[in-house]
Amino acid sequence: MSPAPLLQVVNKAGFAADLHHALAERPRSISPKYFYDEIGSALFEQICTLPEYYPTRTELSLLRRHAAELADLFGPQAQLIEYGAGALTKVRLLLAQMVRPLGFLPIDISGPHLLQACAALQAEHPQLHIQPVVGDFTQAVALPAAPVRGLGQRVGFFPGSSIGNFTPTQALEFLAMTAEQLRGGGLLIGVDLIKDPDLLHAAYNDSQGVTARFNLNLLERARRELGCRFAADGFRHSAFYNAPLQRIEMHLLSMRRQVLSLQGVDYSFEAGETLHTENSYKYSVNGFLALAEQAGYKAGPVWTDEQAWFSLHWLQAPAC
Ligand code: AVJ
Repeated sequence: MSPAPLLQVVNKAGFAADLHHALAERPRSISPKYFYDEIGSALFEQICTLPEYYPTRTELSLLRRHAAELADLFGPQAQLIEYGAGALTKVRLLLAQMVRPLGFLPIDISGPHLLQACAALQAEHPQLHIQPVVGDFTQAVALPAAPVRGLGQRVGFFPGSSIGNFTPTQALEFLAMTAEQLRGGGLLIGVDLIKDPDLLHAAYNDSQGVTARFNLNLLERARRELGCRFAADGFRHSAFYNAPLQRIEMHLLSMRRQVLSLQGVDYSFEAGETLHTENSYKYSVNGFLALAEQAGYKAGPVWTDEQAWFSLHWLQAPAC
């Protein structure tokens, strides 16, 4: 049986309104959360297996290597909350080691995808209380009551360096919100690290063109859901490292002067004009820890791979 979702806050009107807004402003930019319809979520999972896309496999190997130690830090009967849960691949590694986890509350914007993944997980963990929340994880969700004293702590899990989608200011806000939500417990967070720009460039410009399809799916989704009209070959994937800002930027690049039409409104693009679709910020371990401490966390252990490409942090939330 598939557990019923707590709430549904993602809707068509939101996408339409945000896309109109994005197309009317300068520079044009839209939230990367709109990548993740069913097709986009499947493309993202394909990205995670690409040879050039090092974050997923690096983080998975860190989780595998340190799962027992992590389960120790979490303690028995913990209540796990995952922000942007996706396919639930990573959390399985934690659940396999955790002692009698009390509950699991995965939050994800991609509804059908999440519910399917939860049904599969439930079959593997019949005792686990799973409460999927379909929605934007940046919005505060009404969490179940805090664990009773003497029972386990709340543990947040925010893998994949999804924190990189936020500007540092937004990241600080998000961390402060989770520190509040997780009082008495902690947050396990995966953070991608600053590295050779060539490696970063390759990770977002893979040779099979999957990242390009993932980026272009934003417009394809607008075509499917909102009847948006534009020339099929009018836009191209563009991804580059912005070194001063320590972030990968993804854009949809207009190949020529053209008009895109959305629900009866025409938006003109010049050749070379872009719609900015994503930022993926990279951090140094110390830079990230400073941010986490500013948000109210106390730094715990940090794990990195041999190449120092990716980091996993255990952050202690303030006491209850
Ligand atoms: C899911 C935000 C962590 O920034 O690396 C992958 C998304 N975009 N390839 C990232 C993404 C292009 C990914 N995050």
